[in-house]
Amino acid sequence: MTLRQFLKTIGSCAALAVVVLVGMSITSPRGQAYGDNNGGKESEIRQGFAIAPVPLNLDGKNRALVGLGSYLVNAVADCNGCHNAGPGNNQFLPGGNPYFGQPKMINQATYLGGGRDFGPVVPGGSVHIVSRNLTPDKTGLPEGGHTFSEFVQIMRTGVDLDHLHPTCSATVTTNCLPPPFDGDLLQVMPWFADQNMTDHDLRAIYEYLGAIPCIAGPPAPDPRHNDCQ
Ligand code: HEC
Repeated sequence: MTLRQFLKTIGSCAALAVVVLVGMSITSPRGQAYGDNNGGKESEIRQGFAIAPVPLNLDGKNRALVGLGSYLVNAVADCNGCHNAGPGNNQFLPGGNPYFGQPKMINQATYLGGGRDFGPVVPGGSVHIVSRNLTPDKTGLPEGGHTFSEFVQIMRTGVDLDHLHPTCSATVTTNCLPPPFDGDLLQVMPWFADQNMTDHDLRAIYEYLGAIPCIAGPPAPDPRHNDCQ
């Protein structure tokens, strides 16, 4: 390498270093997004806490994940739009229905408790699709006691681990879904969109669902039964 080539190389290295340093100071204004586990999502975390419609139990929880989870559940994916007790607009309090032009007030008594009836998948079908209870049970685990790996499996594949509605066949003729619907898969639930979320986002949603208040589910022996104490 000649002296000239050498100086040129040093020069471009220095230029690169400047670009990298400037870039870092732009993407990380407070210099703390690097190396922490928040994925640089401080503003979403803050917003998540500001918009959570219920009191949150942060005992033993990762605060940043709960905040991000609230942001995803309440501002992005509108899980409560379906996982409320409907029909009707009971996801909102009287006087707080945005569809009536009123300032939004979420009904805490139905928040993510499930039970909304979407009717059968085909007219006259024998089984109704009903949203499930996503609140924690008495163990504190979200979604009626599901583990994180079960939750990820549900969100990524749409599998119905509770087998509430098998596919109709010659032997199964009631409480079943007519083909080509696949009774092993959740219907209405947009798992085919949610499946594209990052592991971090799914972890955050799970952490948040463990921090919201328990709502008792349908009474046993319903497999969707959820016990708060
Ligand atoms: C468009 C309506 C809709 C939206 C939006 C929705 N869900 Fe669902 N979800 C449902 C319905 C309906 C079921 C039950 C489907 C069935 O029985 O086939 C369900 C089922 C589930 C299940 C399975 C529960 C179990 O016990 O196995 C989970 C977990 C779930 N939803 C989580 C979520 C989360 C988290 C969000 C937001 C990120 C969300 N859902 C958004 C309608 C919805």
